[in-house]
Amino acid sequence: MTRRQDTRSVPLGRLQKAPENFVPSDLATEISRKGLDDARRGFLKRSFMAAAAGFASVPALAHAASAAHGDPMILEPRPWSTQLGNPVAYQPYGQPSPYEANLQRRQSPGLTQTDQASVAFAPLQGFFGIITPSGLHFERHHQGWVNVDPEQHRLMINGMVKEAKVYTMDDLMRLPAVSRMHFIECGANTGMEWGNSAVPTVQYTHGMLSCCEFTGVPLKVLLDDCGADIKNARYVLAEGNDGSSMTRTINMDNALDDVLVAWGMNGEMLRPENGYPLRLVVPGVQGVSWVKWLRRIEVGDKPWATKDEAVHYVDMMPDGIHRQYTSIQECKSVITSPSGGQVMMGKGFYNVSGLAWSGRGKIKQVDVSFDGGRNWKPARLETPVLDKCLTRFNIDWVWDGSPVILQSRATDSTGFVQPRYHQLREVRGSRSIYHNNAIQSWKVAETGEVFNVQMD
Ligand code: MTE
Repeated sequence: MTRRQDTRSVPLGRLQKAPENFVPSDLATEISRKGLDDARRGFLKRSFMAAAAGFASVPALAHAASAAHGDPMILEPRPWSTQLGNPVAYQPYGQPSPYEANLQRRQSPGLTQTDQASVAFAPLQGFFGIITPSGLHFERHHQGWVNVDPEQHRLMINGMVKEAKVYTMDDLMRLPAVSRMHFIECGANTGMEWGNSAVPTVQYTHGMLSCCEFTGVPLKVLLDDCGADIKNARYVLAEGNDGSSMTRTINMDNALDDVLVAWGMNGEMLRPENGYPLRLVVPGVQGVSWVKWLRRIEVGDKPWATKDEAVHYVDMMPDGIHRQYTSIQECKSVITSPSGGQVMMGKGFYNVSGLAWSGRGKIKQVDVSFDGGRNWKPARLETPVLDKCLTRFNIDWVWDGSPVILQSRATDSTGFVQPRYHQLREVRGSRSIYHNNAIQSWKVAETGEVFNVQMD
């Protein structure tokens, strides 16, 4: 563990945020219409850089503390300290400050052909700690999101059971519930990066990732209630109630272990985009198996080979064979600050911060390299460090103004170490879309600009 830097002895560095709205709307429309070819991909990067350059150069705040002498912000009363504030319940459901309006989940222009079968990425660069605010949870739908009336919603359990049953929401919510914090990551997260560095910011490289406290009833309780034949059955099928009829086979071992039939997210009911009123929570397993608007669980003795497991979410291996039923999201990490698109405004102290996670258990260690992977230093793991949950890491760093490559490398409780790109490609080839857990590199230029680069 590294010792904390005494920040009184070094000037504090300052980060300029990544321009959140970097793509002009006419370009976004053109890309959505025609897709993202190589020319437009270059254009996307260039327009991002142009937006970054146009972002007025904010005066450096290197010695903020000494600049406080004579600062009118402290010497003269601000308007909000001299007037009556808004009444209670003025916003019956609280909203973020208008000054935070740019922190939004966003679609990557041209990534998908329709807005319903698409993805909105979570702004990881703006998060603290490990919990994803419900309104900023990433979204991935195959046929749009729906507003389900909970009164009309039912969950059926059938197949290899003594008695097939249909539950109302009211039935489910009277059962013994548990709450647990877990990450959810889409198997396609970082998918665009298999070939080379494709997108400028961490929102788009890693933003199909979120972490919440989920509340629900363990699936095992329901399987017991229906008398599931767990001696002979080996799988369950989970089916969603949206137009995509999302269906996924889940191993019985998972089903009997920590899978939840959940209605709660971060202390309130699930948001409609995330499956209200009921979704499956399959800790450690790729997001596609976390079936939303869950309406049916079938118990069976072989996998169902549905479209979303036979054709999609499969890994093209180097020998040309499609690997099906990959489920666990392997150990992975990313530095979220500083990260792509941000600008380091001068030398000095920076708190390098990021997230690490593993579908196989807890994070044991995160190492950070400031020289492209030649030397590594252990980062501080912030508590809590939980099973199949995001872990926040931090490490002190004094930037001397020279160009560097920042990387983080996570190790989980099984001893698995997050691979470099060449290690991942040795096993997996380079024709995959899904399950990319390679080490992410951010290049800091002498100018302080941070770029997404790929290192072998
Ligand atoms: N469930 C249904 N019914 N329909 C869907 O389109 N998308 C899946 C999964 N469950 C999907 C679904 C995919 S691919 C992912 S990654 C996660 O939901 C995303 O969950 P989120 O939108 O809450 O982030």
